[in-house]
Amino acid sequence: MKTCHTVKELRAALKVERLKDNSIVFVPTMGNLHDGHMSLIRRAKKEGKVIVASIFVNPMQFGDNEDIERYPRTLAEDQVLLLENGCHYLFAPDALEVYPDGKRSQTQIEVSGISNILCGASRPGHFIGVSTVVTKLFNIVQPDVAIFGSKDFQQLKVIENMVRDLSSNIKIIGEDIARAEDGLALSSRNGYLTPAERTIAPSIFESLLNAKEQIQLKEKTFEEISEQAQKKLEEIGFTRDYFEIRSQHSLQKPTKDEKNLVILVAAYLGKARLIDNLCITLN
Ligand code: PAJ
Repeated sequence: MKTCHTVKELRAALKVERLKDNSIVFVPTMGNLHDGHMSLIRRAKKEGKVIVASIFVNPMQFGDNEDIERYPRTLAEDQVLLLENGCHYLFAPDALEVYPDGKRSQTQIEVSGISNILCGASRPGHFIGVSTVVTKLFNIVQPDVAIFGSKDFQQLKVIENMVRDLSSNIKIIGEDIARAEDGLALSSRNGYLTPAERTIAPSIFESLLNAKEQIQLKEKTFEEISEQAQKKLEEIGFTRDYFEIRSQHSLQKPTKDEKNLVILVAAYLGKARLIDNLCITLN
């Protein structure tokens, strides 16, 4: 695996691959890689010839109140994992390489209608940071295919809408959520949990499974189900952010006849903000 720290280096390497007509599959990340990220790399191998991953802790998607310095940086370990899983190129730029004039003077991409709800409401500006950096990474890598995890369900929708709205010729693939044996979705943020918090963290997934059952029973309104779930999470030590039942397609409140739903949850546990989701199709 070749690691490139500059745009110039990566472009030169990928130009050679393109001349050979090799299809390029891209997996963008912020590093501190775990098996959830590796499931994307494994999927990438099925989708094309040359696999490019990126590791960039993107300052533009962190709010002023969010401690970007605390985000774990483990480049050497990440390189070993990527190599073992068959990645060919790693793009690992520093902030100056991506934002030479600083993040504040950067042209911004905002995907309308979906960026300011749910996680976008709790983290103002977050999805502008995501869609802007992903656009830049897409322009640098110019992949045929890009893989994102459905763990960040709203992010996946933002990227899908962005590619559609900007008539970009990149196929976006959403990969299933990789979970620990006890159901907790794998996440770099799980590292912020104390051992005691880690034992209660799987309740977030259980709350989704429980809500799914309740939805299928059709005895309570979505609002009642969501409120009950949040109260239960609070009782065991979580602080609420949101718990929502939405249309899978638009992420808006579902219409009465909507069949394809997604249950989305975000909650704080100690220093960690955990998110998870579960899709459900009604018959
Ligand atoms: P990061 O949090 O590092 O995640 C990189 C990719 O891995 C995302 O597509 C995310 O959805 C996926 N992922 C994380 N945990 C997963 C899990 N348990 N199962 C499946 N996929 C999982 O998401 C970002 O970085 C950034 O916002 C980025 C897109 C790189 C832009 O900066």
